[in-house]
Amino acid sequence: MVRELSVKPIVMKLGGSVITDKEKKLTPNLPAIERLANEISRANVLSLVLVHGGGSFGHPVAEQYGLNEGYKDSSQVMGFSITHQAMTKLNKLIVGSLINHNIPAVEVQPSSCVVTKAGRIQSMEEKPLKKMLEMEFVPVLYGDVVVDSEAGFAILSGDQIVSSLAITLDARRIVVGVDVDGLFTGDPKTDSSARLIQHITLEGLKNLEPLIEGSKVTDVTGGMLGKMFELKPAVEHGIPAIIVNATEPNRVYRALKGEKVVGTVIER
Ligand code: IPE
Repeated sequence: MVRELSVKPIVMKLGGSVITDKEKKLTPNLPAIERLANEISRANVLSLVLVHGGGSFGHPVAEQYGLNEGYKDSSQVMGFSITHQAMTKLNKLIVGSLINHNIPAVEVQPSSCVVTKAGRIQSMEEKPLKKMLEMEFVPVLYGDVVVDSEAGFAILSGDQIVSSLAITLDARRIVVGVDVDGLFTGDPKTDSSARLIQHITLEGLKNLEPLIEGSKVTDVTGGMLGKMFELKPAVEHGIPAIIVNATEPNRVYRALKGEKVVGTVIER
């Protein structure tokens, strides 16, 4: 039962702010993980790749060892191991929950298939991934610490993985689940006049860049602006991306089904 990859995959990122409690170190948001596994299962997508963020499992640990600055001294080597271990713990919870919902999820560990150069993906072993999709598995990747050909090591965000994978796999669309309704004209958490942008092109995004603020909690890979920056190459490639609030029930389900949903669509 081996078939060619005939359906373009959907590549979905679940932000760390959705699946963990960002304020409490190493604390998963189990009810959210459970609900999202249920939504993904109900959506029953043929050909799906999942990527999740680090939230309180990734960022505070990586920051503690200064990993975002690259290799500076030998004490960081242990920090790399500990950060990666934290990410695998979070990944196990997600993969476990997906399997409980009858989704054939398989962990794909970025630190063993990616090398970055100055923080950008330089090479990625894609063969196992493509084969997994042909076999109807759901590969689950995550933001991770990876080796870097210049800096020794780097933090690779799930957002960069999503964009790069979407291009490599010629994805149908990208779904990004975050803890806000989408892209706003300001920070909706602090600015009540901030307005949701339902649809935006790359040109429109360019004009908006000075307005989008970085998220204020610990996030060594940037907030919304970082996300937009990472999605751009895939959108330029012709792959539409939709940003939805994954803390709200059924938005991820609708985005996966291609139904109308509150969020921001970014298109070329
Ligand atoms: C971060 O991944 C991974 C590490 C810090 C090791 P992301 O940057 O994708 O995580 P979130 O979604 O912002 O939490």
